[in-house]
Amino acid sequence: MLEIGNFNKIIVANWKLQGSLSFIKTYIKNIKFDSVEEQTKCVVICPPFPFINQINSKDLLIGSQDCSVYVEGAFTGETSTKMLKDIGCNFCIVGHSERRSLFGESNEMIAIKIVNCLEEQIIPILCIGENLEQKKQNKTKEILINQVQKSIPKQANENNMIIAYEPIWAIGTGFTPTLDEISEIHTFIKNNILQSKEFKILYGGSVKSSNCNEILTQENVDGVLVGSASIDIEEFNKIIES
Ligand code: PGA
Repeated sequence: MLEIGNFNKIIVANWKLQGSLSFIKTYIKNIKFDSVEEQTKCVVICPPFPFINQINSKDLLIGSQDCSVYVEGAFTGETSTKMLKDIGCNFCIVGHSERRSLFGESNEMIAIKIVNCLEEQIIPILCIGENLEQKKQNKTKEILINQVQKSIPKQANENNMIIAYEPIWAIGTGFTPTLDEISEIHTFIKNNILQSKEFKILYGGSVKSSNCNEILTQENVDGVLVGSASIDIEEFNKIIES
């Protein structure tokens, strides 16, 4: 397993249901590797399953957007962490809010997925975050505590797992929390929920080249999880350069 502690900045591209072979060819040709070469910076690309082993670049790490709760057997349409490891995945996004809301994933299923990742030495990137209603009702911290307590198995720790704080109302909307809010929530997750300053916590939700610099310099922000801006190579180059 990769030593997460060695990275002081982690940038994850979540392509969601987008991409093609020709898109990947152009993307890899145009990505600015110079800024990725620093050992302390880690850039992870998470394409859809069929394209995972098409990203052949020594400077990029590969992740999956999801994995199965199952390991092997008669489960049509599923992809196991064993298979993901086999094709070179080092990371796997787990419990993204779109998986939770559109595909009915529970915290309990997410905990199983994390165990499956850890068994294959894949680093799970666990997504947590509140929706707008919960934010308005001042329930953000309560929601995060519940998600963390129910979805993190006992085998997981700061050396083998990453958290992504993604307020659902910020995903794909162009809205973000204030910088103070981001820092406050990340500090709360580290100090109060996980009780470890060493846990890496990424921020996700409408990250783009114009806001990533200031987000990345906030206290207790260890990186970003980027959706739509990661599909635009010019945008993404500016993000990895920051
Ligand atoms: P966005 O998506 O950057 O398009 O808001 C982030 C995510 O869903 O991880």
